[in-house]
Amino acid sequence: MVMRKVAIIGVGMTKVGHLFSESLRSLFSKAVRSALEDAGNPKIDALYVGNMSAGQFNNQENIAALLSDFAGLNGIPATRIEEGCASGAGAIYNGFKAVASGSHDFVLVGGVEKMMDTSTCDATSIVSTVTDQEYEAFLGLSLVGINAMVMRLYMNTFDVGREPFAKFSVQMHDNASKNPYAQFPFKTSMDKAMNSNPVAEPIHLMDCAPLGDGAAALILCPEEYAKKFTSSPVEIIGAGHGMDTFIFHTRDDFLSLKAIRDSARDAYRMAGITPGKVDLMEIHDSFSITAFLTIEDLGFVEKGATGQAIDEGLISLDGPLPVNPSGGLKARGHPIGATGVYQMAEVVLQLRGQAGARQVPGAETGLTNNISGFGASSYVHILRG
Ligand code: COA
Repeated sequence: MVMRKVAIIGVGMTKVGHLFSESLRSLFSKAVRSALEDAGNPKIDALYVGNMSAGQFNNQENIAALLSDFAGLNGIPATRIEEGCASGAGAIYNGFKAVASGSHDFVLVGGVEKMMDTSTCDATSIVSTVTDQEYEAFLGLSLVGINAMVMRLYMNTFDVGREPFAKFSVQMHDNASKNPYAQFPFKTSMDKAMNSNPVAEPIHLMDCAPLGDGAAALILCPEEYAKKFTSSPVEIIGAGHGMDTFIFHTRDDFLSLKAIRDSARDAYRMAGITPGKVDLMEIHDSFSITAFLTIEDLGFVEKGATGQAIDEGLISLDGPLPVNPSGGLKARGHPIGATGVYQMAEVVLQLRGQAGARQVPGAETGLTNNISGFGASSYVHILRG
């Protein structure tokens, strides 16, 4: 089958945070309106929306029909994609395929999660449903718990302390301080990051992404139509989807995420590039340890060497490979099912040169990585401006 080239012609985001005065539908509609306006109001043919858990967070299911109706898109095919924390990237992947295959021309891809109407205790339990209910969550093992065990193993294996992880978080908050959409746009220090409250040792508060509300949207169309709507289309040149065993304890290697490696391999192959050609990336730093494993599994740094690379300035905004110029999940925020869409919206703004104070100068190629659970699945997308 001949695939069409796919471009992104519009992006929209709400600020992430405790948005008590917004509902699931009002949040989503805001992001959709901004994306449509940004794209010059094309007529949309289909909608894909990523959402992890509206049933549990908001007591609302059947949300593709609900959200398309309230966003003014009634009558077009609308589909919800649920793939845990990777629901947003799952929606993008499906929207990409719909345009590439010729099924639809103008596709709106959105993501939304409204998590803050729930207590932290209930939210932790809902988030834990992305792990195995029979072997993990039932026994009290939360996602924070899994990440804590892996962080301890990483620290022991590579003889590193908590400092490199804290340094990563300080960098994320620094980036977020330049992002008007960020949930936590405050700067922090090594001292504060190191001495923040323990959550599950060795993970402390400043190693964790927060809970948050937010929605983001993108408009995709065939590249041949894009120039009619924008002078700066951004092309999706690579896409990959990888999977791993669902249960964490059955993995061959606890310090490497196969789903990331497989999705990256396929995305690099489709794009026809090597990791060295990537100018910036938005990755899934749900916990600082996840960011370290990801940077390594995407092929940028040897196993165990991320801390040293951070010390040498690799991931800074003015470094050779800026990571999460948005502030990442840590500080931009992680409204779970919307996160993959936020990541791509940020890379689009960067490649258009519209990222304001956090702009990475001259960026031409960007990568996004969104994973579910502890890497049960992973998406990598590669974009070119
Ligand atoms: N980083 C920095 N500050 C944070 C924070 C975070 N991750 N989470 C909360 N805070 C701040 C709040 O702004 C608040 O500050 P204030 O007192 O100045 O207003 C304070 O810490 C307490 O906030 P609260 O909402 O009561 O935190 P909490 O203790 O209820 O929850 C966590 C904190 C870390 C337990 C919660 O954010 C969490 O579970 N995160 C992980 C979510 C997760 O697993 N996501 C899925 C990954 S795929």
